[in-house]
Amino acid sequence: MSIVYSKKDRIWKLDTPHSSYLMAAVDEEGFLGHVYYGNKVDDLGIDYLTRAYAHPFVPSENARERCSFMDLFPAEYPGFGLGDYRTPAFCVRTASGSRGCGLFYRSHKIYAGKPGIPGMPATFAGEDEADTLEILCEDPENRLEVTLYYTAFRNMDVITRSVSFRNKGNEMITLEKVMSLSVDLEDPGYETIGLFGSWARERHICRNPLGMGSYRIGSFRGESSHQEHPFLALCTKGADSDHGQVYGFHFLYSGNFVAEAHRSQFESVRVTMGISPEGFSWGLMPGETFSLPEAAMVYSSEGIGGMSRTFHRLYRKHLIRSPYRDTPRPVLINNWEATYFDFNTEKLIDIAREAAASGIEMLVMDDGWFGARSYDDKALGDWIANEEKLPGGLPVLSERIHELGLKFGIWMEPEMISPDSDLYRAHPDWAIAIPGRTPAMSRCQYVLDITRREVLEYVYGCVRNVLSSTRIEYLKWDMNRQLTDVFSLGLTAEHQGEFYHRYVLAVYELQERLVTDFPDLLLENCSGGGARFDPGMLYYSPQIWCSDDTDAIERLSIQEGTAMVYPLSCMGAHVSDCPNHAVGRNTPFQTRGHVALAGTFGYELDITRIPQEDRRRIPDQIALYHSFGDLIRRGDYYRVANYSENGLYDCWAVIAEDKSEALVTYVQVLGQPNYKARLLILKGLDPDGIYEISATSEEDHFEPVMVRSGGRKEPEALRLSGRTLMNAGILADRMWGDFRSKLYHLKRVEL
Ligand code: DGJ
Repeated sequence: MSIVYSKKDRIWKLDTPHSSYLMAAVDEEGFLGHVYYGNKVDDLGIDYLTRAYAHPFVPSENARERCSFMDLFPAEYPGFGLGDYRTPAFCVRTASGSRGCGLFYRSHKIYAGKPGIPGMPATFAGEDEADTLEILCEDPENRLEVTLYYTAFRNMDVITRSVSFRNKGNEMITLEKVMSLSVDLEDPGYETIGLFGSWARERHICRNPLGMGSYRIGSFRGESSHQEHPFLALCTKGADSDHGQVYGFHFLYSGNFVAEAHRSQFESVRVTMGISPEGFSWGLMPGETFSLPEAAMVYSSEGIGGMSRTFHRLYRKHLIRSPYRDTPRPVLINNWEATYFDFNTEKLIDIAREAAASGIEMLVMDDGWFGARSYDDKALGDWIANEEKLPGGLPVLSERIHELGLKFGIWMEPEMISPDSDLYRAHPDWAIAIPGRTPAMSRCQYVLDITRREVLEYVYGCVRNVLSSTRIEYLKWDMNRQLTDVFSLGLTAEHQGEFYHRYVLAVYELQERLVTDFPDLLLENCSGGGARFDPGMLYYSPQIWCSDDTDAIERLSIQEGTAMVYPLSCMGAHVSDCPNHAVGRNTPFQTRGHVALAGTFGYELDITRIPQEDRRRIPDQIALYHSFGDLIRRGDYYRVANYSENGLYDCWAVIAEDKSEALVTYVQVLGQPNYKARLLILKGLDPDGIYEISATSEEDHFEPVMVRSGGRKEPEALRLSGRTLMNAGILADRMWGDFRSKLYHLKRVEL
């Protein structure tokens, strides 16, 4: 059991392999306080740490200074308005309008395993993998019962958190702010790490010193968003990929969120994470329970890389449920960048024929196949194939694709409605809108109010009909706009504040039904690129489209940021045509392939029109994917160099869990004149293992005589020990030109 309780000291200790988390109930009233979180410690009786804060002011000994106690005490789940002036974890409003709230410990239980959260994604673990602590607290004046859930994983440094609220009174209590996580840490001068971006520039790493006051990130766009990501890390100054202490906090939720680090007067920092309170309230009726989404905490004393690998393992083994999680995904070709809306059956068949001849395994038909959808301003909601484009509809197309030996995938955007659609003409009131106010359009579309049962049933019926109408092996579920003008005709005035969360619950319900009814379907979530790339969606789909920017160089930063928390196995990445549609850049086909290999791998181009020499390379790229796919899906990820920091080159490695094999990807972003070969100091290998190193051959290209390497021995001839590779490193030869890349495969050999 990784959780122990000392009755004498009223202290709990949660252990993971390398970290400990301690809490204590303090004073007669049972204030629940945070004691310690960090490197593993042996002793249980260290609640003096918490008492250090409380000491001169413990209320039972010093009633006149209760406020000082409240404002010093590292409360485990702090309320509002009773003297703790730091960021509260929760605020409620009672029927009388009062807002003061605070919790006291009442009881707890500890058990093996991990409970789920009703209607929401959550990590899962068996009784031999994790232990759970439930601490029941009470706010007696408000007749509110709050249960804090902690699960400590036995074989990884993860503690998950969640909270539930129960109204034990006779009147409605309005929850105004409810965080899933709150933790007070001593602050040695932390820095924050977050993932920020925009459409086509998602999840770029951003690091800042944590100053006094609050550092706050969040989204109230109705989804986790392109712009800010529900992830926040605190790290010690100077922490890098391999060194330093890092606390990573990630919210397993797909809607509005906030994450805040509040550094206050006594050099302590309170981290809170949960549903964004902006626009949120929840009317909790007598007897009702409200469960919060899960938040995961990862502690690493091996730098950012250690944190990343732990998140990767957590999500690969304890979050993604799809049967595709561990199996090869079919190499797909998607027609979006190939044709946009301008296609018909014959065009798709041409692409499919050529794709099949090159070894591609699935054709995905993207946006534009239904209703009168000739452009993005119409027909969302009319999920019937357009027979002018696709004579005989989906069954004929699917059959013809399958005859070519390919699987067939399809795109839908089920949550949306175009004003110019049959659905809107029939049900204008199904679009989200505030009565009397014209709702704002985005991409010329509105959002369906799926919090209403009849709308949700219609939406699910459409998805089910499409998928049941013919053989479809893959669905790309898109969402191309963020929420505005929220209001539901299905909610009374006092419950309107529930809308955003109910919307997310409806998305989860739709996706749960989908994966239950179509268990073999390969589902890829997407939101105008990567705006709903979050752990919530990962519970339903084993892969998520990373970004609409498919340029290999832009993708280096996007994929580096994404891989800070997510395993490569879930990052939707495709080889596209050049000049790239997002940035107009020309990159070698080989580099595009190597970068897409660090994700799900596929194509997004008109294979009938790309240059012959690119087409000829596809079978070899697919062979690479098949030989390294397993390693990439399951291996441990190590950052060797960061283009986002050095501005010149990028390098990462994926290493098998048993260290028997590694794949190193090196990208020379900018060529430099008169420069030596680059030294790559590898990581994560078996120091005593002997590795045979082979390198991919370079793409043919013109190389003037003056820069040739003069026949220096390529590393493929080398056999070196892991210790040598991790200390002396290998040389990546200078390549002539920009945007060039190379793969190094390392295989441990038996001697
Ligand atoms: C946004 C997606 O990210 C694209 O890949 C494509 O599916 C378009 N939507 C289609 O509208």
